[in-house]
Amino acid sequence: MMMKPASEYPSADGLWTGLRLAPDAALGVTLDAGVEAAIVVMQGEIRWVGAGSALPVEFAGLAQHDGGGALVTPGLVDCHTHLVYGGQRANEFAMRLAGATYEEVAKAGGGIVSSVRATREADEDTLFAQAAPRLEQLLADGVCAIEIKSGYGLSLEHERKQLRVARRLGEAYGVTVRTTFLGAHALPPEYAGRSGDYIDLVCREMLPALAAEGLVDAVDVFCERIAFSLEETEQVFKAAKALGRPVKLHAEQLSDMGGAALAARYGALSCDHIEHLSADGIEAMRRSGTVAVLLPGAYYTLRDTHLPPIEALRAAGVPMAVSTDHNPGTSPTLSLLLMVNMACTLFRLTVPEALAGVTRHAARALGLQDTHGAIALGMPANFVLWSVRDAAELAYWFGQRPVHAVVRQGRIAVENAA
Ligand code: NIG
Ligand code: FE
Repeated sequence: MMMKPASEYPSADGLWTGLRLAPDAALGVTLDAGVEAAIVVMQGEIRWVGAGSALPVEFAGLAQHDGGGALVTPGLVDCHTHLVYGGQRANEFAMRLAGATYEEVAKAGGGIVSSVRATREADEDTLFAQAAPRLEQLLADGVCAIEIKSGYGLSLEHERKQLRVARRLGEAYGVTVRTTFLGAHALPPEYAGRSGDYIDLVCREMLPALAAEGLVDAVDVFCERIAFSLEETEQVFKAAKALGRPVKLHAEQLSDMGGAALAARYGALSCDHIEHLSADGIEAMRRSGTVAVLLPGAYYTLRDTHLPPIEALRAAGVPMAVSTDHNPGTSPTLSLLLMVNMACTLFRLTVPEALAGVTRHAARALGLQDTHGAIALGMPANFVLWSVRDAAELAYWFGQRPVHAVVRQGRIAVENAA
C-alpha cells in the first residue's frame, strides 16, 4: 500500500448527505436513531451538521457527496504511539512465549535499549521510510490525528532525528501530528549507573534544544522501577514547565509508583497505561482533569492480568481514552479499531465509551479538543464514513477495517469502493 501525497487528496467541501450519526455522546452532536444526517464542509471546516431535513436552504445548492447510508463518526485520534523507530523485536515475542517477562527481557539487554541501538543506526530518511507504511495503516483505519513520541534515540542527535521524522510524516500525509519528547524513556547504555547525569542532560540540554527547534509539543517520562524514579520524573516535569510544555506520563504500568498523582500536580494532559493506578491517583487525576489513556494492546501482549481500575475511573468521571501504544516491544498493532475491540472485551468499556476513547477523550489527551475528536461547527473537517449499520460493529468486527471514506483536514484522504 502506498497512499497518495496529501496535496493530491480532493477537497471535501460541499454537502455530505445520506449519513447516519453514531447514536452516542462521542460525536458532539446527537440525533435520534434512523434520522438521516447531513454535514456541510466549507473551506475544509464543518459549517453545519444536523438532520438532513433541517438543512438550511443556503446550503442546498452545494456540490453533493452521497454517503449512501454510511455510519459517520469523528476522525479517530491515536493519542499514544512510538511510531518512529529502527528495527523490530519479534525475537522478544518468542522469548516471552518461552516464559521471560518484560522486565527480564529488558535486563537481558533486549527491550527498549535494543530499539535504541537500531534507531541510532538508521538515518532520518530510513526512519521515515520505515515509519510511513505504519502510519498508512493507522490512517486506513480512520485516524486523523496522532501523537508520536521520541524515546528510542536517547541523545540529542538521535531524539532530534526521531522528532523530525514525526513532523515530516505529518506534512507528507496531511495528518495532525503531536510530537512528544520522551527522552526519559530508558537509561542509554553509555549512562549505565549514572541515571542522575542522564536526567540532567535531558533537562538541561536535550529538552531546551529540541523545544527551541519546534519539535516538542509535550513531554513524557517512563516512571517505573525499570525506568525512572518519581524524583527523576519530577525533575523532567519541572524542566517542561519552565519551557511551557504540557506533560504526560507512562504511569503505574507495572507497579504503583505514585506517578499519576505527581503528574496530576503538574496538570498533566494524560496518564497512560495505569494498570496499577491507586484510588489516590484517580482522585488526583479527577481534580486536575487529566485523561486516563488505556492501552489494551500492551496489556494483551504482556499477558497482563492486572486490570486498570475502570469501574473506579468511570465512577470518578475521569475521561478514558484508548490508544494503540504502537511500539516494537509491547504493542506492535497498527489498528486503533482493534484497540476499540480490546478495550471493550478486555477492559469492559461500553461501545460508546470506547468510541469516545478514540475520539473526544483522545483529542483531549493531546490538548486538541478544540480541533479534533468531534464533528462540530468551526472545527476542521475530520470524519469517517463506515460501511456498517450499527456503531457496535466498530468494536465487533475485530481485525477488519470497515472504512468507506475518510475526510481528513478537509480533504478526502481515503475513499474505498462501496
Ligand atoms: O508504552 N512502557 C514503556 N514504553 C513502551 C514500550 C516500549 C518498548 O518496549 O519499546 C510502552 O509500552
Ligand atoms: Fe508507550
